[in-house]
Amino acid sequence: MALDLEVWEDNDALYSRAQEIFSTQIKNGATTFGLATGGTMIPLYEKLRSSALDFSHCNSVNLDEYVGVPQGHPASYHTFMQQHLFDAKPFKATYIPNGVAEDVHAEALKYENVLKSLTVDMQLLGVGVNGHIGFNEPGTSFQSETDVVELTASTRSANARFFDSLDEVPKQAITMGIASIMRAKCILLIAVGEEKRTAIEALLKGDVTEDIPVTRLCNHPNVIVLTDLQINND
Ligand code: F6R
Repeated sequence: MALDLEVWEDNDALYSRAQEIFSTQIKNGATTFGLATGGTMIPLYEKLRSSALDFSHCNSVNLDEYVGVPQGHPASYHTFMQQHLFDAKPFKATYIPNGVAEDVHAEALKYENVLKSLTVDMQLLGVGVNGHIGFNEPGTSFQSETDVVELTASTRSANARFFDSLDEVPKQAITMGIASIMRAKCILLIAVGEEKRTAIEALLKGDVTEDIPVTRLCNHPNVIVLTDLQINND
């Protein structure tokens, strides 16, 4: 398995390491970054914001966006990216699915075509408590490309903290598919916190199953995992 596991006891050091990986990518000529949202990414984007890194010649493609949440909504992933990264670090071009497109299925197809026109040098990933990557929930085909998907009850309740109430959390999202994610040249996965243990242990065990989407990364040639979890990987 071409997977480098780095366990960091100190979260600040973990996120500095993630920043260093971005820096090395840029030095090595990377120009297209797949980006993620969620609580895990906030300290990383804080580091990138206060760094000297320049992304003005780079493209970004985000993993996903909620369906039915307008771009200007406080919990949209557009707003998240603007606040946590893009306001301070402009990119040449940024792509995030439009969750309020009139035809969200056509939007998903269009997004997949944008992705296919780019080569993602490094895809940043978090992981859901249930092992999802992007919003590809357990049971999603490994052949999936960008599509409109249903969010599970567990994902909706995990994300309710970003909304005023659970009822407000959308039931659908547009997400890059698992096959779309796997096309990236390199993947940086960050998993922080005990609630991610089951997913990370499954990944490291190497039993690849559509029931735990993150295990698909075992078949990728270049994955770095940064975690604060002490893992017994015998
Ligand atoms: C975010 C995304 C999700 C999150 C995952 C973890 O764009 O696609 O897969 O990475 O749900 O979220 P946090 O970091 O909030 O635990």
